[in-house]
Amino acid sequence: MTALDESLTARATWRALGAHHEMLQAAHLRALFANDPGRGERLTAEAAGLFLDYSKNRITDETIGLLVQLAQACGLQAHIDAMFGGEHINNTEDRAVLHVALRAPRSAVLTTGGKNVVPAVHEVLDRMSDFATRVRGGEWTGHTGKRIRNVVNIGIGGSDLGPVMAYEALRHYSDRSLTIRFVSNVDGADLVEATHDLDPAETLFIVSSKTFTTLETMSNAQSARDWCVRGLGGDTNAVAKHFVAVSTNADKVSAFGIDPANMFGFWDWVGGRYSMDSAIGLSTMIAVGPEHFRALLNGFHQMDEHFRRTPFEQNLPVLMALLSVWNTNFLGAQSIAVLPYENYLRRFPAYLQQLTMESNGKRVTREGVAVDYHTSPVYWGEPGTNGQHSFYQLIHQGTRLIPCDFIVFANALTPLGRHHDILVANVLAQAEALAFGKTAEEVAAEGTAAALVPHRVFEGNRPSNMLLADTLTPAVLGALIALYEHIVFTQSVIWNVNAFDQWGVELGKALAQAIVPELESASTPALAHDSSTNALIHKYRRLRTA
Ligand code: F6P
Repeated sequence: MTALDESLTARATWRALGAHHEMLQAAHLRALFANDPGRGERLTAEAAGLFLDYSKNRITDETIGLLVQLAQACGLQAHIDAMFGGEHINNTEDRAVLHVALRAPRSAVLTTGGKNVVPAVHEVLDRMSDFATRVRGGEWTGHTGKRIRNVVNIGIGGSDLGPVMAYEALRHYSDRSLTIRFVSNVDGADLVEATHDLDPAETLFIVSSKTFTTLETMSNAQSARDWCVRGLGGDTNAVAKHFVAVSTNADKVSAFGIDPANMFGFWDWVGGRYSMDSAIGLSTMIAVGPEHFRALLNGFHQMDEHFRRTPFEQNLPVLMALLSVWNTNFLGAQSIAVLPYENYLRRFPAYLQQLTMESNGKRVTREGVAVDYHTSPVYWGEPGTNGQHSFYQLIHQGTRLIPCDFIVFANALTPLGRHHDILVANVLAQAEALAFGKTAEEVAAEGTAAALVPHRVFEGNRPSNMLLADTLTPAVLGALIALYEHIVFTQSVIWNVNAFDQWGVELGKALAQAIVPELESASTPALAHDSSTNALIHKYRRLRTA
C-alpha cells in the first residue's frame, strides 16, 4: 500500500464528522429513538450467524454515511485486498499478513511471494488432525505405555490467550476424560499448580511458541521437561513421547530436544495474536476433536468472506470498527467494555485485550509520524451478569463514557430451568437502561425523597452494541473471533497504524534480561539503573531467602 498523502485529521471526511458531531451532540438516544422509531430494526446487520443491533449508538443514518465515506477515503477496500493478496502490509517487519489463509478451504488460493500458501496450511491441519485423533483415541501413549490423560499447553500471549479462550468457550464440546491445562506465567506457581496433581506418565506438553525464544515459555518448558523426566525415572528418552512443539523455529525446537517429527509449524505471515487457528490451536483440537476444530475454522472463513466482499454499510466488522472510531475520536470514549452474557466466553475479554491493544496501541503512523488523534481504546470486560454487581455502576452513573459490546445467545448450551431467560432479560435490560436511563422527573414520580433524586437519576445516552447469535457453536465462535480481528484491522486502516507489529513489548523484555543476573548474584558489577530501581534490587536481595 502506498503511504497516505494527507493526515487523518486533515481529511474532509474527518472534518465533516467533526461538524456532524457538533450538531448531534445535544441529541439524546431518547430523542433519536422517539423521532425515528424504525431505527431499532433498521440499524442492524447480520453475517455468519451473528446478528448486530447497533441502533443504541449515538448516531443517525447520516453518521453511518459519513463514517463509510471516511473508510472509503482511507482506502479500506484496497487495504483489505492487499491483506488477502499477501502484500507485505506489516511494513515494519516486511511481512505479509495472511491469517485468513489459516481458515481458507482446501480449494482456495491465497498467495504471497508468488506462492499459494493454502496447501501448506492443510498439510499441517491434516497432521494435527492425525495427531489429535491418536491422542484422543489412546493410540499415542506416553513413555511407559500409559494413555495420555492430561494435556498442558505452555505458551504466552498469542500462544496462550487464544487457546485458553477457545478451550473455555468450547468446553461443552470437549472430551471430558481429558484434563487440559495452560501454563503461561513465568511465576513458578503457574506450572507448579498446573502439574501438582498430574501423573507425568499420562501427561503431554505442547510447547507453543512462534519464536521458541520467549523467556517465559522457555523457562516453563525447561522446568516441565525436568518435572517429566524426573517423574519418569530420569530417562531423557521420555521427552519424545511427552513433548511436542508448535513453532516456526525448527532449529530451536530440535535444540530443545523435541523431535522435529513432533513439531507442528506455521509461518511468519501469522502474527502471534492472530494464530489461535494455526497449529497454535493444537490443544483446542485435542480437546474438541478435529471435526469441531474444522467447524471453528469454517466460522472464521464465513466472516472473512463477509468482510472481504460486503458493502461497508452492511459489513459487521467495518460497522463496529467505524462505531468504535466514532465513540473514541468524536465522543471521547477511552475504553470499550466487552460483556459476554455467556459463561463459556469468560476468557473472551482477556483474549481481546491482546488482539486489540497489542495491535492498535500505537502512537505513530505506518510512516512513523506521531498521530494527533487517539488510537486503540482500552478493551476490557467480564461475563454478565457478574459485571453488573461490580463495575456497571460506573458505566451507568460514572463520569466516563464507556461504550459496551454485549454478546448473547438465544439458546443455552446447558439449559437449566429459567436461568437462560433471566440471563437474557438482564442483558436486554442493561442495554435499555444505558441508552434511555431514568430522568429526575421519573425518579421523583416514584415518590423518591427530593434529596435522593440526583443519586437515583440515570442520565442514559450511553452507547452499546448487541451481538446476538443462536447458540455458541464452534462455527459461531470462529465468526466472533474473526469479527474482532477484522474490527482491529479496519481500525488500523482508519488510524493508519501498523496493527501487526508490537515493538512496545521489547524494551521491558530487554531490561528484564539484564536485571535477572543482578537479582541472582550480589557480586555483579555496581548497579547502574536509576536510584529507584537500584534501591528495589538491593531491597529484594536483602529480603529474598531462597
Ligand atoms: O508479547 C509479545 C509477543 O511477541 C506476542 O506478540 C506473542 O504472542 C508472544 O510474545 C509470544 O511469542 P511466542 O509465540 O514467540 O513465544
